[in-house]
Amino acid sequence: MKFSLNVDHVATLRNARGETQPDPVTFALMAEQFGVDGIVVHLREDRRHINDRDVRLLRELITTKLDLEMAAEDEIIKIACELQPELATLVPEKRQELTTEGGLNVLDNLERLKDTIQELHSYNIPVSLFIEPDINQIDASADINADIIEIHTGNYANAPTVEEMIEEMERIRTAAKHAKRIGLGVNAGHGLNYNNMKEFTLIDEIDEVSIGQAVIARSIFVGIEKAIKEMSQLINTKIS
Ligand code: PXP
Repeated sequence: MKFSLNVDHVATLRNARGETQPDPVTFALMAEQFGVDGIVVHLREDRRHINDRDVRLLRELITTKLDLEMAAEDEIIKIACELQPELATLVPEKRQELTTEGGLNVLDNLERLKDTIQELHSYNIPVSLFIEPDINQIDASADINADIIEIHTGNYANAPTVEEMIEEMERIRTAAKHAKRIGLGVNAGHGLNYNNMKEFTLIDEIDEVSIGQAVIARSIFVGIEKAIKEMSQLINTKIS
């Protein structure tokens, strides 16, 4: 399983004072040195964390791969086509939300998403759709030519009881197996942390996890190298 690091919240901290530090680009370059497999950033329409300068510099400087999270909006699609990230992950975006709150409703937005995927494909950009672990959403994603799905793991991470956590994990496992069976790549993310990550190592169908908040937060206490290496070790150690 690969580990992609989302550095949005380094930019959140920088922007809190409107100054230049901490720099998410520097953080990403250091993270690469400590072994992450890719860098993820969400270029939001309101630019509340990552901005155009960040994404352009990352495109130029990182040596792993760039996963650009984005809404299916014309302005951002244009930037993606110019920058040609190794992956574009389409997510729903609401201005009021603190973070992405759930998966895309692919079934209700088939035409818009299909056109966006087609446009990104015309620039040789593979496309992932961030969706709930739901068979109908997965089938719809395949129908409109998505390459990968990213399964939203927020309901698992925030489950109020152990029973609900186990149930949600079962949904994720079933969804991952189904997606793989029909030829989609499978990523997962949102709310994964040092305590809830281990179970995921049992799902062989998940190719990659995308983790931000937990690693950025831990790096404040233990440093970037230790925070990244601890998470890499969790991801690469299969529990039995
Ligand atoms: N995947 C997607 C699609 C996201 O929107 C986010 C949050 O930006 C993440 C993964 C990472 O979530 P977290 O910061 O909770 O690890």
